[in-house]
Amino acid sequence: MQLFHLSVLLLLLLQNPNPGQAKRLVGPHPTGLTGRIKGGEDAEIGSAPYQVSLQPIVGAHNCGGAIINERWIITAGHCVETFTPALVNVITGTNKWAEPGAVYYTESIHMHCMYDQPYMHNDIALVKLTQNITFNELTQPIDLPIRPVRPGDEIVLTGWGAQEAYGSAMENLQKLTMGFVPLDECYDIFNQTSSMGVGHICTFSQEGEGSCHGDSGGPLVSNGRLVGVVNWGRPCGVGFPDVQANVYYYLDWIRSKISGNDRCYY
Ligand SMILES: *[C@@H]1O[C@H](CO)[C@@H](O)[C@H](O)[C@H]1NC(C)=O
Ligand SMILES: *[C@@H]1O[C@H](CO)[C@@H](O)[C@H](O)[C@H]1NC(C)=O
Repeated sequence: MQLFHLSVLLLLLLQNPNPGQAKRLVGPHPTGLTGRIKGGEDAEIGSAPYQVSLQPIVGAHNCGGAIINERWIITAGHCVETFTPALVNVITGTNKWAEPGAVYYTESIHMHCMYDQPYMHNDIALVKLTQNITFNELTQPIDLPIRPVRPGDEIVLTGWGAQEAYGSAMENLQKLTMGFVPLDECYDIFNQTSSMGVGHICTFSQEGEGSCHGDSGGPLVSNGRLVGVVNWGRPCGVGFPDVQANVYYYLDWIRSKISGNDRCYY
């Protein structure tokens, strides 16, 4: 079984991805070229003011992310792994990634110290901006979680990701409400893959819905708190849970990084 990350840029840049990168890029269903979070709907203006678009070149959406505070953005590790700070432009304050409310620039990228060790684990990164974000109605930080997600919690995914595997980004921010799938169930559904562990949480709504390419790094919010960062899945919406970095699990690492400590927590 193969698993796939959900960022879209490398695909656009690399017409013929080399085999080393192909594991993250090539899926079993390379189909349509339009769309959105599979099965989602337009998010209301201002309903996800923490959402950002990460753009290597302003005007090219690659990944989602979320505002943690004035200076820090959280995203997936695979969204920024190969980039220098100059290639991580952060678009805030908008439901249309091509029409920025504001553009912020990156001072430094902080990958999790155990990123991709083992494969697909610890896929989380923090981005420190060169200047403070100005908050307003459309631009706000999202609180970190204070407890683990529980069965029955409603979880809202937002993103500009495609509607079909390897499709292009949606113009308007999409949202999808999902439920929590306990890790042991999710692990069994994925046939006990070594790509899943305690640093992940799974979400699912129904077949035909789910995160897709371009949603990577984006936020999952429950009860007003950031509970997940889009990591990987079986693209897209083909009836399996989506797998995200479990923000609650990484709280110590996040707090430590933001306070300037380089200690490795995992
Ligand atoms: C940025 O925001 C922090 C937290 O509110 C504040 O302490 C700091 O003075 C601000 N820096 C600038 C340059 O405005
Ligand atoms: C798990 O294995 C079964 C049986 O081989 C297969 O049908 C199913 O697609 C696998 N699950 C995933 C997530 O690939």
